[in-house]
Amino acid sequence: MSQRSLVLLKPDAVRRGLIGEIIGRIERKAGWTIAALELRELDQDTLEQHYGEHKGKPFYEPLMGFMQSGPVVVMVVEGERVIEGLRTLAGPTDPIAAAPGSIRGDFGTIVRENLIHASDSEESAMRELKIFFPGLV
Ligand code: PPS
Repeated sequence: MSQRSLVLLKPDAVRRGLIGEIIGRIERKAGWTIAALELRELDQDTLEQHYGEHKGKPFYEPLMGFMQSGPVVVMVVEGERVIEGLRTLAGPTDPIAAAPGSIRGDFGTIVRENLIHASDSEESAMRELKIFFPGLV
C-alpha cells in the first residue's frame, strides 16, 4: 500500500548537520522515494495550522518557539507503508525512551529537540500535506 507522509527535519537536526544522515536512512528503505524537499523557515501561522491540536498543552509555546529557531527541511516521502515505517524509523517522542537504531534513539536526548516529525496517520498526512505542499494534493 503506497502512502505519502509529511516529514519535517527540525531545527536541531539542521543545526547539528544531521540532514544527510537522516535522509540517508530514509532513502535506504527499499522503494521509498522523496517526492518533494525544501529548506524553509516556518512562520507562526503555518506552525499554528500544523500543531493547532496541541494548543494549550504545556509544551505548545516552547515547541512553537523552537520550530522557529532556524530552518527546517520540509519533505514528502512516498512508498510502501511509509507512515508506520517512518514512525518506527523516528522512534517515540521522548528520545531517551527511543531504541538505539532509531533516529531519535541514536541522536536525541531532549524531548523538544527530537529531530524529526512524521505524519502519524493517513488523515494527518493529508491535512499536513495541504499545509506544506498545497500544490501537491
Ligand atoms: S500528545 O499530547 O500525546 O498528543 O503529544 P505527542 O503526540 O507526544 O506530541 C505532539 C507533538 O508535540 C511534541 N512534543 C513536545 N515538544 C516539546 N516539548 C515536549 N515536552 C513535547 N512533548 C511532545 C512532539 O514531538 C510532537 O511533535 P512532532 O513534530 O509530531 O514530533
